[in-house]
Amino acid sequence: MATFLPLRTFARTSLRVTPLCIGCAPLGNMPETFAYAVAEEQALETLRACFQAQINFLDTAASYGDGESERRIGLVLRELGGMPASYVLATKADRDLKTGDFSGDQIKRSVDRSLKLLGLEKIQIMLLHDPEHAKFEDIMAPGGAVDALTRLKDQGVIGHIGVAGGPIGLMIRYIETGAFEAVITHNRYTLLNRSAEPLLDRAAKLGLAVLNAAPYGSGILAKGPDAYPRYAYQAADAETVERARKLDTICKRFKIPLAAAALQFAMRDPRITSTIIGLSRAERLAQTVELAHAPIPSEIWPQLEAVGHTMTDPEALRWR
Ligand SMILES: NC(=O)c1ccc[n+]([C@@H]2O[C@H](COP(=O)([O-])OP(=O)(O)OC[C@H]3O[C@@H](n4cnc5c(N)ncnc54)[C@H](OP(=O)(O)O)[C@@H]3O)[C@@H](O)[C@H]2O)c1
Repeated sequence: MATFLPLRTFARTSLRVTPLCIGCAPLGNMPETFAYAVAEEQALETLRACFQAQINFLDTAASYGDGESERRIGLVLRELGGMPASYVLATKADRDLKTGDFSGDQIKRSVDRSLKLLGLEKIQIMLLHDPEHAKFEDIMAPGGAVDALTRLKDQGVIGHIGVAGGPIGLMIRYIETGAFEAVITHNRYTLLNRSAEPLLDRAAKLGLAVLNAAPYGSGILAKGPDAYPRYAYQAADAETVERARKLDTICKRFKIPLAAAALQFAMRDPRITSTIIGLSRAERLAQTVELAHAPIPSEIWPQLEAVGHTMTDPEALRWR
């Protein structure tokens, strides 16, 4: 096993995590989200490589491939004889994807299935996933989703509760309830989109662990705007593609990969506890650590900044 990157305290908990976290959404085989499929053997090889890498933190969700990501992680955890010491796993409790049911009972069912698929008796971090698909009042009601998670925490089935989702105003409303120790934002704090700024500020002030997911905007900033012209799981608009091209040109001038600038942009921010990167190939683990350590001259940042970014919600049109 490799030595981990320097560990950080996960907010007020006793957990210690690396500044990088492996996002296991692509490993759940989600062609409708990422526009490519990931076969089981490729996912298992990638997961085996995760447990040999310098990263001790994995993120998944009940809904990734409707259980497929957790099932594949569970297969590798069984090969390893359970969760290796010093590793931290976060997963997320989901609504019923077919009916939209986001009740407390559904959350219990979701957690139960995660435990079975992962082959674990306890989950260290459980996040309420994408609560934008329900009403805040219903989620927070007695007997509702958050109540169910709190009870599972009291029973020792869950270690810590967080919230993960899209719309920034709603995420701020959730963290201000005091029910959560961690928050995940995604695709909203990147070289191309900074709409999560107010959430990062508020979460850091409240002392939550802040996880910034999708620093590549779901792939465009890693694979490049011509190879993968998508942002936040949909076709990128012309302005986003144009800005990504300009960012790429600047990076080429400095002889650094665009992915290194995108990754280090997130990792430099002191409000962020860990940056969650999605990947589906074993070689990505070494590449990611290399990108995180690539020397980046300080003069590049104002030039990248001058390209501009949006403060608009990248999924605003999706939910209309
Ligand atoms: N609501 C939520 O809670 C929420 C929402 C979104 C994301 N997340 C979490 O955050 C994670 C990250 O988000 P994401 O996966 O959507 O987006 P991302 O990390 O911005 O980008 C993932 C994409 O980047 C590619 N990539 C990664 N490293 C690369 C490299 N070195 N070279 C070339 N391509 C590279 C991957 O390709 P390959 O597949 O080819 O490796 C994948 O297509 C998710 O997996 C999930 O765990 C949570």
